[in-house]
Order: sequence, then C-alpha cells, then structure tokens
Amino acid sequence: MSESAKLIYNNQTFELPIIIGTENEPAIDIRKLRDTTGLVTFDDGYKNTGATESQITFIDGEKGILHYRGYAIDELAEKAEFLEVAYLLIYGHLPNQAEYSDWKNKMIRHSLVHEDVKKVFDAYPTGAHPMGQLMTMMSMMSSFYPNNQDPHNTEEDKNLTIARMMAKMPNLCAMMYKKRIGHPVMYPNNNLGYIENYLRMTFGNPCEDFHVDPVVVSAMNKLLILHADHEQNCSTSTVRMVGSAHTNLWATIAAGISALWGPLHGGANQEVLEMLQDIKNSGNSPKEYVEKVKNKVAGVRLMGFGHRVYKNFDPRAKIIKKACDDILNKLGVNDPLLEIAKELEQIALSDSYFVERKLYPNVDFYSGIIYRALGYPNEMFTVLFALGRLPGWIAQWKEMIESKAPISRPRQIYTGATPRAYVEISKR
Ligand code: ACO
Repeated sequence: MSESAKLIYNNQTFELPIIIGTENEPAIDIRKLRDTTGLVTFDDGYKNTGATESQITFIDGEKGILHYRGYAIDELAEKAEFLEVAYLLIYGHLPNQAEYSDWKNKMIRHSLVHEDVKKVFDAYPTGAHPMGQLMTMMSMMSSFYPNNQDPHNTEEDKNLTIARMMAKMPNLCAMMYKKRIGHPVMYPNNNLGYIENYLRMTFGNPCEDFHVDPVVVSAMNKLLILHADHEQNCSTSTVRMVGSAHTNLWATIAAGISALWGPLHGGANQEVLEMLQDIKNSGNSPKEYVEKVKNKVAGVRLMGFGHRVYKNFDPRAKIIKKACDDILNKLGVNDPLLEIAKELEQIALSDSYFVERKLYPNVDFYSGIIYRALGYPNEMFTVLFALGRLPGWIAQWKEMIESKAPISRPRQIYTGATPRAYVEISKR
C-alpha cells in the first residue's frame, strides 16, 4: 500500500500522508491540508472522520468484530468480571491478583456518597427522568472534591478520582431508583461485590435480608461488559471533546451521560421497550408496524435497529439475544414482548427496506427485555447503559488527556448571508 495519497487541486498535486492502524485500517492524514491547500474537509456527523488515534477498542463494522484492548467481546462477556474489564479498559491490561484486589478494595472504600447528595435528590420532582438526575449528580460530585479536579494533577490524584467515580456510580444509580419508588436509600454493604451491592441497593430494603440471585448477577455482569466501551460513538466523542477543554472529569462524564440519553443513542433501549409495548397495546401486528416504519409515517423508526458502524450485524446484539432467551428461561419469565421482538426482527431481516439499508438489530434491541425481566422500569434502562459505559468513558478521557490532545474544535462550511449593512428597525 502506498504511504501517501495524492490530491490534485487547482492543477497542483499535493501529497497527503497515510496512517495505518494496527488492524490495517488506513487513513489520510489531513492535519496540514489547510496550510498547504487552503481546503478543509466536509463530513457532517463525522461519518468518515477519524478524530483520534486510540488503543482502547477496535470495531470492524463490516465483519461485526468488537475488541477491547485486543480481547474479543464474546470471550470477555463469557469469562470475565465487569470490574476486570473496567480495569482493562482504563489501565490497558487485565489486572493481576494484587492489582485486582486493590481495585476491588477501592470500589468498597469509596462507595459512600456525601449525605448532602440526598438533599439534592429530595429536591427533584418524583417521576423526573433518572438520566437527567444522573447527569446532575455526576457534575455535582465535582463540588465535593474541589481539590482533585485538575486533570493534570498527579497520577495518584487522577486515579483517586477515577476510583471514586467508579465506586460511587452504582450508589448514585440505586439512589435514583429508590427516590422514584419512594423508598429509603440503602447504604452499600462492604461484604458484597460491585454488582451484588448495586442490586441490593436497588432492590433491597432495610426491613429484610436481601438474597442476591446468581442468575441476575451473571446477567448484569454480561450486560455491563457488553456496554463498557464502543470507541468513538456520540457520548464518547462528547466526553473527549468536553475533556479536551481540560474540564474536570465529573463534569466531562456528565456531558457523556447527556449525550447517551438521546433516543438515537443509549436512550434507544427505553424506546425499544415502549415501541414493543405500543405494538402490544394497539393490537396491531408487528408486520403492520414495520409497514409504518417503511412508509416513514411521522418519522417512525424501528428502534433498536441500525447502526452507524455495524453494517452486517452488531456482535453485542447476537450475544444479548442468546442471553435474553437463557435468562428468561432461568428466571421462569414468559414475556409476550419477546415474541413481538422476535417477530419484528424476523420480518425486518427479510425485508428489502432493511436489507438494502443494512439495518440489523443493535445492542438495544433485546437488552430492555432482559432489564424488564430483572425488574427494572423502562426509565432505568439508559441508566444501566451508563453504569456499564462509565469505564469506557473514563478510559477514553484518560487516553485523551495523557496524549496531550489539542482542544477539539471542528471547522465549518459557512452557508449564511454574505456581509451586509445594519438596517435601522424603523426601515425594516
Ligand atoms: N428504522 C427505519 N429506518 C432506518 C432506521 C431504523 N431504525 N435506521 C436507519 N434507517 C434508514 C434511514 O431512514 C435512512 O433511510 P433513507 O436512506 O431512505 O433516508 C437510512 O436508513 C440511513 O439512516 P441514517 O439515519 O442516515 O443512518 P445513521 O448511520 O446516520 O444512523 C442510527 C444510525 C442513528 C443508529 C439509526 O440507524 C437509528 O436511528 N436507529 C434507531 C435508533 C437506535 O436504535 N439507536 C441505537 C444505536 S446503538 C447505540 O447508540 C447504543
């Protein structure tokens, strides 16, 4: 392969260097293009723009491949623990015994949140969407640790903030659920693991012992791993962009949570469940719904279908679909929405509208059915996505800060009015 690409513009030939990633993905390096040619590139939605070099996650959208730090997602989802994967993403290698016990100890030591946080929860209207609350809580945490905010602080300080954030996240997510149902907040129990603790803080109550179901723990472990990172998606790019202004990590992650909330991104898992419930309640068949989607009635989309990168299949969806069957069987749950989902998928996969546009089920298509079977209300689904995605966001932020990335600042093609004189209001 040549090591440069040639651009002919204004009868002049310009050489542009080629960068090749470790998985042989070639890219044209256009960093000097403006200086040499006066041109900028145009790519709305960054559909074909590499915004960074990264060693964290690899995706081959055509082949349906997803690797975290070189490890295949199927293997990690099958064999690893979520905290191991979090460590892998953030620190670049799987932890050895000593590193892992230290990491797990940190998750216990820092799990409590300041009592004043409860007062903020109290001020929220009951029924407020938990993603809005999570975003506020995350950015508010920066007020409790004003001395550890500078992303250029010592390594020790940075690791302390990372551990605090990872350790407090399950507690914050559980508090939101408790607020929602009007129950008292449950404090973490240091004898329990990360996921067990989260489940107890969510579904336990102070009046009785809480027995953690290993089937539920294993399902949660898998789901969190599958959501842990996904290279330069909308929320992760947001994290990198906000962090590139050297904003503190808490506020930076709050911005990522905000981006994830959108229905075209992480909010799709809630939308999928609502779509399935609407189909069931309307009495219409999945086929009739698919017709509405194809006719683009009022912008209706088949939620949980389609992906910017995966154009063959989403490997996470494959794992989740199987997990969904297994978990519902093990828990003895018979959910009619699962049947509707399977029928929708079957119709869509053989329909030319979806085949031609390369639209396949994504990670959100079946995850909501599992969350529902585990007892979560629809509004909590995207929060669970955020709980899983947190280590990925942190890893991407850490890589960006440590590589001394410049502030993110795209260019534009201005298409507005050309210069004109101000007109007095009486003459307009
Ligand atoms: N249902 C129906 N049609 C769709 C869907 C869908 N879910 N997704 C894309 N299309 C159609 C578009 O209407 C468009 O058709 P056209 O060429 O006739 O105009 C074509 O497929 C291309 O779609 P784009 O929106 O240009 O694709 P893009 O890559 O920009 O969007 C996205 C990807 C946002 C994920 C889109 O597929 C979508 O909206 N899906 C539904 C929401 C969803 O499930 N989001 C979760 C994604 S995974 C994640 O973020 C965790």
